[in-house]
Amino acid sequence: MKTTLGFFGAGKMAEGILAAAALQKGFDPSAILMAEKIPARARELEKRYGVRTTPDAREVAKTARTIFLAVRPQDLAALSADVKPFLTKKTLVVSIAAGKSIATLKKALGREVRLVRVMPNLALRAREGMCVLCPAANATQADVRRVAGILSGAGRTTVLPERNFDAVTALSGSGPAFFAFMEQAMAEGGRALGLPEDAARMLAEQTMLGTAAYLRQSGAGLDAFISGVATPGGTTAAGMDVMRASDFKSVVAATLKAAADRSRALGR
Ligand SMILES: NC(=O)c1ccc[n+]([C@@H]2O[C@H](COP(=O)([O-])OP(=O)(O)OC[C@H]3O[C@@H](n4cnc5c(N)ncnc54)[C@H](OP(=O)(O)O)[C@@H]3O)[C@@H](O)[C@H]2O)c1
Repeated sequence: MKTTLGFFGAGKMAEGILAAAALQKGFDPSAILMAEKIPARARELEKRYGVRTTPDAREVAKTARTIFLAVRPQDLAALSADVKPFLTKKTLVVSIAAGKSIATLKKALGREVRLVRVMPNLALRAREGMCVLCPAANATQADVRRVAGILSGAGRTTVLPERNFDAVTALSGSGPAFFAFMEQAMAEGGRALGLPEDAARMLAEQTMLGTAAYLRQSGAGLDAFISGVATPGGTTAAGMDVMRASDFKSVVAATLKAAADRSRALGR
C-alpha cells in the first residue's frame, strides 16, 4: 500500500490537519499513515477517517514522502533519535512544533531532509485556521506549494521569514485564546447590563465573527470602518471614547510581547 502522507504524532493538531486540510484536499485516506502509540486512539482514527496507523514512527519515516511532524516540542528529541536514520533528501518534513527553529530541526532530523516550518492555529479545526509557512533553504518552490495546497483546505496560509516566527506565534498561534478572552469580556459586559448568559455569549461571538467576515469581504480600512460605525453623538462613539481613553491597546501589545518573549525563550 502506497503512503503519500505521513504523520509523526496523532494528537489534536494532527487530527485537525488530517480532517480539515488533507482529506478536504482529496487525499486518499488509505494512503495516509499516522504514528500513534496508544491502540485505542489508533483504532479511533482508523475508524473515523479510514487512515492507516502504526505504533512505530519509523514506519512513517520509511514510507511517506511528505510527513507532518506534530509531536509536542519536548518529544522531538526522542522521536528524531528513532526516525533520523530513515529520512533522506526525498523526505519533506512539515514541522508544526512550536518554537523549534529550522536549525534545531535540521540538527535533530538530518541536514538532507527538506523542511517547511509551519505555525498553525487551533482554528484550522473549524477550517478557518491561519498557517504561516517558512521553507528551509533546501525546500523547493514545489514543496512550499504542496504544503500551502494541503493547509489551504483548513483556512488561510502565508509565507514569512523565520525571524518573524516569535511574533507569528504570539499573534496567530496564541491569538485564539486572546480573542476568546475578548469575547468573554464582551459577554460579561453584556451580562452586567442584564442579558441572559447564553444570549450574551451568542451576541458577542456572532458580532466578532460577523465583524471579521465583513472586514474581509469589504476590505475596509480599520479607522474608516470604526468611524463609519461610530456616528458622532451616537452609542458606538460613547463606547469608543472609553476604549480610546483606556490603556486597552497597550495591554494588547504587552500581551503579544509576553507571548513572543516566551516563544523565544522556549526556542532556545
Ligand atoms: N494546540 C495548538 O493550538 C497548537 C498551535 C500551534 C502549534 N502547535 C504545535 O502542534 C504540535 C502538536 O500539538 P498538539 O496540541 O496536537 O499536541 P498533542 O495533542 O499532545 O499531540 C501530540 C501527539 O504526539 C504523540 N507522540 C509523541 N511522541 C511520539 C512518537 N515518538 N511517535 C508517535 N507519536 C508520538 C503524543 O502521544 P503521547 O500523548 O502518547 O505522548 C500525542 O498524541 C506541538 O508541537 C505544538 O507546539 C499546537
